[in-house]
Amino acid sequence: MVKAVRIHAFGDVDVLKLEEIEVGDPGPGQLRLRHTVIGFNFLDIAVRKGIYPVLPELPSVLGTEAAGVVEAVGDGVSGLKEGDRVAYAATMPGAYAEARLIDASQVVLLPDAVSDEVAAASMLKGMTAEYLIHRCYPAQAGETALVHAAAGGVGLFLCQWLAAKGVSVIGTVGSDAKKDTILANGAAHAVNYKTENFQEVARAVTGGTGVDVVYDSVGKDHYQRSIDSLRPRGYMVNFGNSSGPLPPIDSVELNVKGSLFFTKASMRFYQLSREELENSAATLFGAIASGDLTTVIGQRYKLEDVATAHTDVAEGRTTGSTVITI
Ligand SMILES: NC(=O)c1ccc[n+]([C@@H]2O[C@H](COP(=O)([O-])OP(=O)(O)OC[C@H]3O[C@@H](n4cnc5c(N)ncnc54)[C@H](OP(=O)(O)O)[C@@H]3O)[C@@H](O)[C@H]2O)c1
Repeated sequence: MVKAVRIHAFGDVDVLKLEEIEVGDPGPGQLRLRHTVIGFNFLDIAVRKGIYPVLPELPSVLGTEAAGVVEAVGDGVSGLKEGDRVAYAATMPGAYAEARLIDASQVVLLPDAVSDEVAAASMLKGMTAEYLIHRCYPAQAGETALVHAAAGGVGLFLCQWLAAKGVSVIGTVGSDAKKDTILANGAAHAVNYKTENFQEVARAVTGGTGVDVVYDSVGKDHYQRSIDSLRPRGYMVNFGNSSGPLPPIDSVELNVKGSLFFTKASMRFYQLSREELENSAATLFGAIASGDLTTVIGQRYKLEDVATAHTDVAEGRTTGSTVITI
């Protein structure tokens, strides 16, 4: 038996229950992993509330990201063995546990240069930044990007990586303290959206032209001013709804405001094959090894305190990545 945090119903943080569960032996193509560190993601809040329908049945263990050690290997698995250090950002929850079964196809080997804690803090958030800035809208040196929730988990990776590519970042945040955080992590300009108008800053910084791209995980609250911050033929890349879902997209508005491009991006469509997963992880690990990325772990919580992590992240109190220790 192992400790795990499960939900038996969707709802507020009180549905999170610390329980003992049986893990069992890995089936064909599976591994049993002993987790060392678990990654926390904003997505976990949406799954807990039932907004993001990924759980096949209840009760279910939450969490989609972790690092650990292979404890047992099922039939038909090649390239992985007992004792290997691995990590994942999985499509199926199950990470809030001391151990779990997982399809070997979702797991990557960790290089020596990447610690378990860094891996748990960066697999989902860092591979999201990877596909957004290299394959969704590949921002170029000399361009300007508007990045929302810039002090958050994905946000700090975006600030650092875009800056390393020579892209000028305007980051938005919800407090003055977070402005200092993003300026120390590559952003050229920081805007507290609670007291300042980021659309005006975007226009001023670009001499009135508008930014080349918006990387937006906030959704509803920032949508209109984001569209109004773009240059003609600029790219609106939405990849999250932290403040609520976007309004229906108005194609005429995209036309009249400058033949704008809009996409609602998901990591799973940028990891359509094992090769895409391995390439994305290798690019992330390479950027960590080269120093282009420094994983900022702003908070650590014990597995039994995961409800506090849900509340703190939902209320915008956190910066950088959040991990759950065992
Ligand atoms: N599509 C994908 O492939 C993909 C992959 C990974 C993550 N995501 C999404 O990316 C987003 C960021 O994930 P993360 O884990 O790194 O979280 P995070 O950015 O660390 O936390 C969310 C941040 O959103 C900001 N925010 C703005 N308005 C908010 C509101 N009304 N309620 C709550 N937060 C608000 C807060 O920062 P400020 O107040 O400072 O702005 C908060 O810190 C999430 O929406 C997540 O679902 C998408």
